Amino acid sequence: MTDAAELDLPFFDYSAPDLTGEVYHRRLAETARHGWLAQAPLSYVVLDRESAEFFLRSRATAFPGPQIADLFGVTGGRLREQIDANIVNQTGERHRRLRSLVGPAFAPRAAGRWRPVMRGFLDGLWDPARTSCDAVEAFARPYPALTIAAVFGAPAADAPRLQAWSAWVQRQFDIRALAADLPAIERATAEVYAYVEDLLAARRDAPGDDLLSTLLAAEDEGDRLSRAECVNLVLNVMAGGIDTMQAQLAHALRLFAEHPDQWALLAAEPGRAARAVDEVLRFEPITPFTARVCLEPVEFRGVAFPAGAIVAVCAERANRDEGEEFDITAVREHRPLTFGAGAHYCLGANLARAELEEALAFLAPRMPGLALDGPPRLGGVEGIYGVESLPVRWRPPR
Ligand code: HEM
Repeated sequence: MTDAAELDLPFFDYSAPDLTGEVYHRRLAETARHGWLAQAPLSYVVLDRESAEFFLRSRATAFPGPQIADLFGVTGGRLREQIDANIVNQTGERHRRLRSLVGPAFAPRAAGRWRPVMRGFLDGLWDPARTSCDAVEAFARPYPALTIAAVFGAPAADAPRLQAWSAWVQRQFDIRALAADLPAIERATAEVYAYVEDLLAARRDAPGDDLLSTLLAAEDEGDRLSRAECVNLVLNVMAGGIDTMQAQLAHALRLFAEHPDQWALLAAEPGRAARAVDEVLRFEPITPFTARVCLEPVEFRGVAFPAGAIVAVCAERANRDEGEEFDITAVREHRPLTFGAGAHYCLGANLARAELEEALAFLAPRMPGLALDGPPRLGGVEGIYGVESLPVRWRPPR
């Protein structure tokens, strides 16, 4: 067995300023040509499906939220409180308990219930007189925030605020933003805590037909969420369910604008939306890297990782083990790792899939000949891989 530190590994800088678009995919592919393991600024990186699944599923690893917070001096205040309480940072029995209490509220049927509401929002955002737009501004930004507001029974007028908070709070997972924008992330976290506490108080007095009321009533063998757990979960879901969806929908529309034949297939048969969503998630994961810290010494493929070692898990390479072509008709063997794997598999995956499917099935027949109308502005890939703007045009439907 060899210590990871003794290996002569290729270096992959996931915080390089030019790491986006095709440069990012090319650089990752070049690094992976040297093998499944690389060195990165604060961690190792694993670059194929088997190694990615191993580190995500291992009970000897955890999400390194508190370790990263310590590195960036986030040692107190509401952001640290949120990081320590975040479901993604819980392990063992504590995590299992939270998942069994809230899991049913996010099951496929529960998520599917919101599909008519989603279609209503898409209809409201659609302007039949237009044949060009910035697809981020027109759809990808407003739609997930409206959906999350509806799911929680929050007023639709609050959606823009929720969207802005989500963008900031999610930057706790982005090491470049933690270094540059910490005060703004702290401020947004404090604001969203106050908002969620008010919303919960109102719902406790007047329960409704929404997720918040379901969580408040959630019970598992006599066990219930405490008030603090409820606040933190709502905050996790609000923050985790908007920015991610915005990014994934924007990349989906970008990919289709770049692959007109695939868009035409979908427009002709919107029933292909579920398959199309799978392929978008596989091909352009907006969570290209997540991470694990080794809680004890871990061995994989003859390499020893000491306790405390941080391993970035690359979903992009893991997913592309099954091909470098974007093809919504291809049959793939594996589920993409874009939502993670194992105990922390994305709680909102069913809701996210439903939102993406509804959006693609709605837009494809209405936007024939979708094409880029200028270069998209893409974000960095070290946190959530977002799209800042996406100019597109299309022919008026016949
Ligand atoms: C396309 C959109 C989304 C993507 C790509 C995504 C991705 C992920 C990934 C990769 C993880 C696991 C992180 C890890 O194990 O290291 C995760 C966890 C999580 N996601 Fe999502 N997510 C998306 C949408 C959502 C939505 C819509 C919600 C809420 C409605 C949500 C809520 C959560 C929560 C609460 C967790 C933590 C689960 C746990 O620790 O048990 N996500 N997500």
